[in-house]
Amino acid sequence: MVRTKIGDLFQQETKYQRGHLPGGDLDWASKPATYKSYPSAPRIQLSSPETKGGPPIWDSIRQRRSLRAFQEPPVKEADLSQLLWAGQGITDTGMGFASRTTPSAGALYPVETYAVVHSVEGIEPGVYHYSVQTHELEQLKVGDFRMAAARMALDQRIAHSAKVVFVWTALFARSTWKYRQRGYRYVYLDAGHIAQNVALAAVALGLGSCQIAAIYDDEVNTLLGVDGVEESAIYLTVIGKPG
Ligand SMILES: Cc1cc2nc3c(=O)[nH]c(=O)nc-3n(C[C@H](O)[C@H](O)[C@H](O)COP(=O)(O)O)c2cc1C
Repeated sequence: MVRTKIGDLFQQETKYQRGHLPGGDLDWASKPATYKSYPSAPRIQLSSPETKGGPPIWDSIRQRRSLRAFQEPPVKEADLSQLLWAGQGITDTGMGFASRTTPSAGALYPVETYAVVHSVEGIEPGVYHYSVQTHELEQLKVGDFRMAAARMALDQRIAHSAKVVFVWTALFARSTWKYRQRGYRYVYLDAGHIAQNVALAAVALGLGSCQIAAIYDDEVNTLLGVDGVEESAIYLTVIGKPG
């Protein structure tokens, strides 16, 4: 059967086939930067995450469910810090580059984390970018973005009632620089790994999460201030105390 829709074409045309691997040397001069930063944004140093011990992982795996009702109490700053670390924190610098909590094709790390903070102790409501390198939040916007969050998530109320909404974007060129069009596959796989780590860490912290891919992409991009082409929102996770 001949399939001509864009998703079908993408799946077919990004297959690796024996004898037809894309060749050529990597152009190291055009390698995209590994880290994004907002140099003029106010910065908030996050508390140091726990990196040892913690609740048994089997319990977290067994108990994880998508939660869609949240209690009123805010999320603790330490818990937000722990979740950000679980998703993308640096865990090793011994191999000549910084390895993270989650795997990434070619260690290229095309995914960026943003947090739309609705209610977190000690952190003003607003839109933040997570600086992986420094474990800081960079403040992009201040304000109550609960309505905007729900609207951009196809009007799902959980993005309003959650206490934090994580938004993952992809800087596609970080991956396509090496893997070309196949890199798009890897970007989405990376985001899945990150989201799962956050979901399991949420359980371990007594919190709940729900992953959201039903989004009006460009409404999310507008909230973050990203262009939707070089960098575009791909996935959300809402967090709060189970209701
Ligand atoms: C890629 C992806 C997208 C999802 N998008 C949404 C969503 O937009 N809204 C929602 O309420 N749940 C969403 N979910 C959650 C699923 O509905 C949920 O994982 C599924 O029903 C299984 O339930 P469980 O997570 O509790 O095991 C999504 C899950 C995944 C993996």
